Amino acid sequence: MEFAEVIGGRRSIRLFRPWRPVEREKLQTVLEAMRLAPRLLGLDLIRIVVVHRERLSAEELGALKTPTTTSQLDMAPVLIVPFADLGALEGALDGASLRALAAAGALPRSLGWSDDFIETTVVPEVYRALADDEDRVALGRRTEDAQTVSRRLMVAATTALGLAQTHGLLCAFDQGLGAQLSAINFAAAKELLGYPDDWLPSSPIFLGYPAESAAAGGQRPREPFERDFFLGRYGVPFPRDLEVTRQLADEGVLQAPAPLPWRRAELRGVASMLGLPT
Ligand SMILES: Cc1cc2nc3c(=O)[nH]c(=O)nc-3n(C[C@H](O)[C@H](O)[C@H](O)COP(=O)(O)O)c2cc1C
Repeated sequence: MEFAEVIGGRRSIRLFRPWRPVEREKLQTVLEAMRLAPRLLGLDLIRIVVVHRERLSAEELGALKTPTTTSQLDMAPVLIVPFADLGALEGALDGASLRALAAAGALPRSLGWSDDFIETTVVPEVYRALADDEDRVALGRRTEDAQTVSRRLMVAATTALGLAQTHGLLCAFDQGLGAQLSAINFAAAKELLGYPDDWLPSSPIFLGYPAESAAAGGQRPREPFERDFFLGRYGVPFPRDLEVTRQLADEGVLQAPAPLPWRRAELRGVASMLGLPT
């Protein structure tokens, strides 16, 4: 699929064909895309647990539900659950992953990079500061004895998670699949998946073949461009060139806005096909 169509055609798909599994190679392709997401200073924080719905009991599926994630769990054949391993920073404090990046030619000497710079500047001033920053936030529930991590590491971790999720989502659509990020009950997930205490979980990618059409009712609403995007300084809207938006519409980045006139009928039809409330 063309990149423009992947960007423009991605929707949060909430209705899946429960009977159609995701091919092993497509699943791996999505995981490979997530692995290639940008990493803050070469830190490999991302961990993934893949869950196949058919291997969970009805009770386990029920326990994972939340107010905003309900029957998706009964439909999507695969959940890709992403984590940031906050303990990984300790292992990276020797600077080996940065030296590997430098050796791979990614960090040019012309920009100041060298093994010496990594050892004397980046590790102590950036990695160490990330680990030891006194501004700390609780990992998990805020209790007296809750484990804490530096706020900066938490920001880096949530950024890494978002980037991996984005790579995964876009790749899923490129593979002709449908996908959605959706919350799960993380207390139940901890029990079920048994991940370490210093892994920060985030919303899984629900993956499968859509039961709704590819348009899924049209492109979902966003705030006006000029309201949220600025040029040079907050308050100065970035001017949106209508010639550019016309071209983006031709390429499929900008698509017909939701709701398409037949969306309600589609939702009723799909719900009745899947035995869901209409
Ligand atoms: C971190 C994150 C968590 C989300 N969790 C849910 C969720 O629990 N339930 C849900 O229906 N959608 C969830 N979504 C999907 C958003 O509702 C969706 O992206 C938004 O409405 C825009 O629609 P679009 O993705 O189709 O463009 C989540 C999205 C993100 C980024």
